[in-house]
Amino acid sequence: MYCFSLGPISLRLSSSSLVLVGAWYTIFATSSVWSGALIRLPKWVFILLLLAPFLMAVIHGRIPHLRRTPEGELYGGFHLPLNMLPGREYGPPETEWLNMGYWENTTIFPEACEALALRVASMACVHSGHVLEVGFGCGDSLLLQLRHPSIPRPVTITGITSLPSHFHRAKQRIEQADLKEKIPTRLFLGDAVFREGTNPSSLTAEQEATVSIMESHPLRYPGNETLYFDSILGVDCAYHFKTRNLFLRQCYDRLTPGSGRLALADMCFEPTSSTPLTYLSKIIAFILRVPSANLIGRRAYRESLEKIGFDEIVIEDISSSVYSGFTAFLRTRGIMWVLFANIITIWHKGGGKFVLVSARRS
Ligand SMILES: C[S@@+](CC[C@H](N)C(=O)[O-])C[C@H]1O[C@@H](n2cnc3c(N)ncnc32)[C@H](O)[C@@H]1O
Repeated sequence: MYCFSLGPISLRLSSSSLVLVGAWYTIFATSSVWSGALIRLPKWVFILLLLAPFLMAVIHGRIPHLRRTPEGELYGGFHLPLNMLPGREYGPPETEWLNMGYWENTTIFPEACEALALRVASMACVHSGHVLEVGFGCGDSLLLQLRHPSIPRPVTITGITSLPSHFHRAKQRIEQADLKEKIPTRLFLGDAVFREGTNPSSLTAEQEATVSIMESHPLRYPGNETLYFDSILGVDCAYHFKTRNLFLRQCYDRLTPGSGRLALADMCFEPTSSTPLTYLSKIIAFILRVPSANLIGRRAYRESLEKIGFDEIVIEDISSSVYSGFTAFLRTRGIMWVLFANIITIWHKGGGKFVLVSARRS
């Protein structure tokens, strides 16, 4: 229930009353008797009114994927049930993936998530070396680097992620994993974008642990002059960074000159001709915490990479292998996931593109 106060007038609106207003207006504005008499509002106002319950559910945190954590973050632990394998719905899931997945030849969430991470790794052409993984969530993409048979083991792996609960979970899972090789693993809790004057976490370094906690930002520059990465990877996260362009510039400085590669599963925005859908997509981007500076199309994305100095740039639109499989899967998971699937569908129809991006430091 929402209360609006305009001087002495106070309105109490529930989501259902907003829908009724929307439906009322739609019926009357289209009837021949009333159409001349009513003030014409833009079409997107109807759509907004009809979508009111949706937006209310988001604001109230009733849609799990859009609920904020106590740290004000979008993500939390809601994704764990999605990782349950069919027929094995009891006990904790083996994986804790949290991306939209690459749904070619599978309808199973963890398989699709792993497939997306593998596509990113293959775009990076990782041949061993020093690897940085940003937005690593609960650590599955790090574990992939540490043990997947089709990926060459890195010399060192460094990770940055912003949410403390994910950070600790990833650290614990790597420490408990049965790994054949001991690969130095350093994790940093904080924003993927380095900002002068910001302290990392208040955590202290644990010298003896398998996984050490970094106190200095891996993308710090100047500083860390000897720390170069052969590849920097990010699965389904860079569109959140404030801003992604600043992050790309910092990546460039930290990649090995002449060979270091960046590979991201990311999102672009290329508005369709429908203005209402564009507006809605922008509202959804705001809810999904995508800064407006990141709402650019593939051409502008390529230009910004070129301007920074990257070459061998590839930007591949994989929307058709991501959104339809992901939303079809969500629609099998209950009403709140259906609402979330609808939000993703609107985002896609309004111009949201899912892309694989790779580029080399020249
Ligand atoms: C959609 S999840 C992807 C997680 C993981 N890559 C996976 O595939 O399971 C996005 C992740 O990026 C992290 N993230 C979001 N904004 C970030 C930022 N500014 N800096 C670092 N990590 C960020 C979130 O905490 C979350 O773990």
